[in-house]
Amino acid sequence: MEKREELYAGKAKSVFKTDDPDRFVLSFRDDTSAFDGLKVEQLARKGMVNNKFNAFIMQTLQAAGIPTHFEKLLSDNEALVKRLDMLPVECVVRNIAAGSLVKRLGVEEGSNLTPPTYELFLKNDALHDPMINESLAESFAWAKPEQLAKMKTLTYQVNDVLKQLFLDAGMLLVDYKLEFGVFNDGEIYLGDEFSPDGCRLWDKDTREKLDKDRFRQGLGNVVESYELVGRRLGIDFDA
Ligand code: TMP
Repeated sequence: MEKREELYAGKAKSVFKTDDPDRFVLSFRDDTSAFDGLKVEQLARKGMVNNKFNAFIMQTLQAAGIPTHFEKLLSDNEALVKRLDMLPVECVVRNIAAGSLVKRLGVEEGSNLTPPTYELFLKNDALHDPMINESLAESFAWAKPEQLAKMKTLTYQVNDVLKQLFLDAGMLLVDYKLEFGVFNDGEIYLGDEFSPDGCRLWDKDTREKLDKDRFRQGLGNVVESYELVGRRLGIDFDA
């Protein structure tokens, strides 16, 4: 496999073409962004930590039967993935109230959500990722009804796998965001990444925040917390 030119640079990752038209290289940078790019900082080691964290989670999900774009780790900061046509819809499941839900509905942070909630957002920084629903996604052809149904099923399956995985390691999976795309076989695969940049994780006992809220809220020790979470899951960042 040969890495070729950069196709796209997102806020925290870059995508490179390869000599295989159906494979991309995903490069995890140290850039850390919040509030739709309003706050951006370079955090040393974050690219490496998120790349290895994501590899571990994607492999865990794959082993549980959830199709993902992840193929293999290439280096500290790079992974080989399937080329997906990404759908511009972000799927969010919440087990505990936090973040935008607390602001939007005036509910108390930390309340348990039973059953977990499922929300869709349009991936559009300029519009600050507005909340949408399946009807809007269908009418604007952001995704087809059967794709939306599959994304919802897969997003909840991810919750079943990861809620328990984190709980066994002493953490609460508060909420998370997933993005999906279509591969050359026409099927839906989980794309993007799963790392503490795109989910909320609290210590089970102290409820200390261990995710990107540390960056958003200026709590410090951002990458240290990501590494702590990873080590609790058994990830070896020095390997
Ligand atoms: P929210 O509380 O801001 O709506 O976010 C819910 C979860 O989804 C939280 O873990 C952060 C994640 N998320 C992103 O990572 N990027 C996004 O653009 C959005 C809308 C949510």
